[in-house]
Amino acid sequence: MGFPLNRMRRLRRKTQFREMVKETSLSADDFILPLFARPGEGIRKKVSSMPGVFQMSVDTLAEECDAAFSDGVRAVILFGIPEHKDALGTEAYSDDGIIPRSIRSIKKQTPDIIVVTDVCMCEYTDHGHCGIIKDGEVDNDATLELLAKESLSHARAGADMVAPSDMMDGRVGYIRNALDNEGYENVPIMSYSAKFVSGFYGPFRDAAESPPQFGDRKSYQMDPSNRREAMREIALDIEEGADIVMIKPAMPYLDIIRDASNTFNIPIAAYQVSGEYSMIHAAATNGWIDLDTIMKESLTSIKRAGADMILTYFARKAARMFK
Ligand code: PBG
Repeated sequence: MGFPLNRMRRLRRKTQFREMVKETSLSADDFILPLFARPGEGIRKKVSSMPGVFQMSVDTLAEECDAAFSDGVRAVILFGIPEHKDALGTEAYSDDGIIPRSIRSIKKQTPDIIVVTDVCMCEYTDHGHCGIIKDGEVDNDATLELLAKESLSHARAGADMVAPSDMMDGRVGYIRNALDNEGYENVPIMSYSAKFVSGFYGPFRDAAESPPQFGDRKSYQMDPSNRREAMREIALDIEEGADIVMIKPAMPYLDIIRDASNTFNIPIAAYQVSGEYSMIHAAATNGWIDLDTIMKESLTSIKRAGADMILTYFARKAARMFK
C-alpha cells in the first residue's frame, strides 16, 4: 500500500484541501493573557526582558483589559506587585490589596472579561518564596491558611477564577473548602498542578519582582526530569477539586501535556512562560526567526499536544490573528 498508490502530497496541493484536513486550529478564546499590576496611577512601565509586557497601575490595567477584550481576548490572569513586602506577605490577602483593587477596576470597565487571579505568596514576601518560612524552610501547612485568605480576598473582589501557583501540598482542597464555606462554591480553581522548577521563569521574576532572596524553589516545584510524578500531582489536584489543571512551562514539557490529556478527563491549561516568550522575541529581534510564524507554530504545538487553553504573553496578538 505504499507509493505510488499513496501520495501524501495530494492533499497538500491546495489551500482548501490543507484547511479541510487540518487537525489543530487556534482561536481567540484559547488564550489567557497574563498581566502585572503595580501601585500608582497612570503607570505603564516596560519590563525590559519581555518586549510588549508592562507593569501597570490599576487604571492603566483596566484600559489594557478593555483593549484586549476588543482584540478578542476573553480572559486575563493577574499578578500583583504590592506596595511593600514582608515576611508573611500580608498584602497578598488584604481586601484593599493590589489584586482586589485591580479586579474591581477591570470589572467596572469590562464586566464580561474573565478575571483569573494568580494565588501565590512569592510576589508579596520579602524573601521571595511561595510560602512562609519556618526554620529556614517553606512551611507547607502554615502557608495553606494564607493561600486560602488570599483566594477569598480575590473572590470577594469579584475574581471569576483563582489559580494557585505555589505548589504547596493540599492547597487545592484547602482553598476549595475555604471558598465553599464563604459562599463562593461557584468560583472555579485552575490549579498549577505540574509546575516545574525552570530557568524559563527568569524574565517573569523581573516582571513580578519576585525572585527568591535565598535558595531556590526545588523543595516545592517539580524536578524537570519527572513525568510519572506529574501525573500524580495532577491526579491529586483533581481529587481535591481542581476544575482545570495546568502544566507549566509549555513547550519544553509537551510530553507532559500529552500524557495529561491522554490520562485525565478534565480541561488542561498550559502556560507558555516568560522565558519561552522572551526567547522567541530575542531571536526575532535579531532577524533569526519570524515572530508571527514562530508564535503561531509554538501555540499550535501546545494545543496539538493536548492543551485546551494557553496562558501566553502573545494573547492579544494571537487573538487578533485567530479572531
Ligand atoms: C509565581 C509564579 C511564577 C510564574 C507564574 N507564577 C514564577 C515562579 O514560580 O518563580 C512564572 C510565569 C512566567 O515565567 O511567565 N509563583
